[in-house]
Amino acid sequence: MAEPVVVIDESGEPNPYLMGVYAPVQDEITAENLKVVGEIPKDLNGVYLRNGPNARFPAKGRYHWFDGDGMVHAVHFENGRARYRNRYVRTRAFEAESAAGRSLWTGVMENPKGNPFGNTRGLNLKDSANTDVIFHRGKVLTTWYLCGAPYGMDPLSLEALGAETFLDTLTGDFMAHPKLDERTGELFWFDYGPGRPYLRYGVVGAGGRVEHCVEPDLPGARLPHDMAITANHAILMDLPLYQDMDAARQGRYKLTFNRELPSRFGVIPRRGQAHEIRWFEAEPCYIYHVVNSWEESDEIVMDVCRVSRPAPAGSGSPLARMISYLKLDARMHRYRFDLRTGRTHEESVDPDHNTEFPSIDARLTGRRSRYAYNVSVKDAATNLFDGLVRYDNVTGAKETYSYGEHRYGSEAPFAPRDGATAEEDGYLVSFVTDEREGTSEVQVLHAADLSAGPVARIILPQRVPLGFHATWVRADQLKGGTG
Ligand SMILES: [Fe+2]
Repeated sequence: MAEPVVVIDESGEPNPYLMGVYAPVQDEITAENLKVVGEIPKDLNGVYLRNGPNARFPAKGRYHWFDGDGMVHAVHFENGRARYRNRYVRTRAFEAESAAGRSLWTGVMENPKGNPFGNTRGLNLKDSANTDVIFHRGKVLTTWYLCGAPYGMDPLSLEALGAETFLDTLTGDFMAHPKLDERTGELFWFDYGPGRPYLRYGVVGAGGRVEHCVEPDLPGARLPHDMAITANHAILMDLPLYQDMDAARQGRYKLTFNRELPSRFGVIPRRGQAHEIRWFEAEPCYIYHVVNSWEESDEIVMDVCRVSRPAPAGSGSPLARMISYLKLDARMHRYRFDLRTGRTHEESVDPDHNTEFPSIDARLTGRRSRYAYNVSVKDAATNLFDGLVRYDNVTGAKETYSYGEHRYGSEAPFAPRDGATAEEDGYLVSFVTDEREGTSEVQVLHAADLSAGPVARIILPQRVPLGFHATWVRADQLKGGTG
């Protein structure tokens, strides 16, 4: 049975991001002996983890989808069996609200002035660590899109391990989507904030300490969401979508897209100084997510999901504007930055299909990769991922898979088969939630043959609300304890 509509937003307007497939769940569950339709491959060993917003208490003021408390849902695959767990991310703010028994923070749609505390960069919002989940040196790090503390979690038990300080070397905050180079063990990150320095870029070395941190100059406060690495460089972004600072001074959160400004991509040697950054200009846009980036002789190739109209002509209530701003509308796009001439070449890869939340074989991050696995974004008012799209950037081929009517997935990371070395030799794993039934399952598909449908469907004991980012941690990573 579908769940009843639950409205827990003080505005009184029904908020679709608190209802149906988005409605938060209350229980933290550990479940084994799950019902399986088909057969779980015995050579699929590791953990699928997905983060997302899950409001614990009724919102204080208006609720934005990005405000919800972080909750990780995980499925551990081992020798053809699967176990499910879900746990809240126990941030400092979560613990404070748990002790109070109610919401103490307002979200991004309200004036944050009276909130108890914020991040170290002067943003007075609740760090919910609800955005991504990254495996690093034996731990899972949960991160927040507005920059906060990376909260550690055990990848199997989901036990809270507290705020990660990288052996007391992290100053400031940490963004949502750091990039791990598995070959060197380095983790690349940035943080940003409303005041100077507007951007800091850093490297956590293989030993787990922040070994490098510089402050590239930006013309003002920006909202970078992702970054890229190649074998020798990192790529940072200065995109013309940013917070209106006049509105911010009045306590309002308002975004401005300035079509007069170019998009700028800053290419910096991995351990380069701030003055070594080289900025490449391109057409104005916004980018949430990078697919991958690599070097080809004197060029840097970077594939992204590009948003050409990041500020829809929104009208109506603040809730209506929030819903239209949140709606993903992105296309696969390729940039080439010529390190000799300083010129940028850009081209659309797939102008027809709205796809996002890309994943690749993570072992190839920063190296040439052939395949990308994106979610297909349904043509609907809210964000619903109705299927998967595999892109082959050598042949240009595209293969799609639909979850079927009223069934919506999550980011679907690539999970290599045990011992596999070929790029496509493995599986895609995703939660799939049925809107009408109010139930969820995990689907496992062959990465090389999506149209064949799932080889296994693992029926879960509760609904998994639609959420944000996911990762796959291989069994050899779990054993090795390294990134
Ligand atoms: Fe993201």
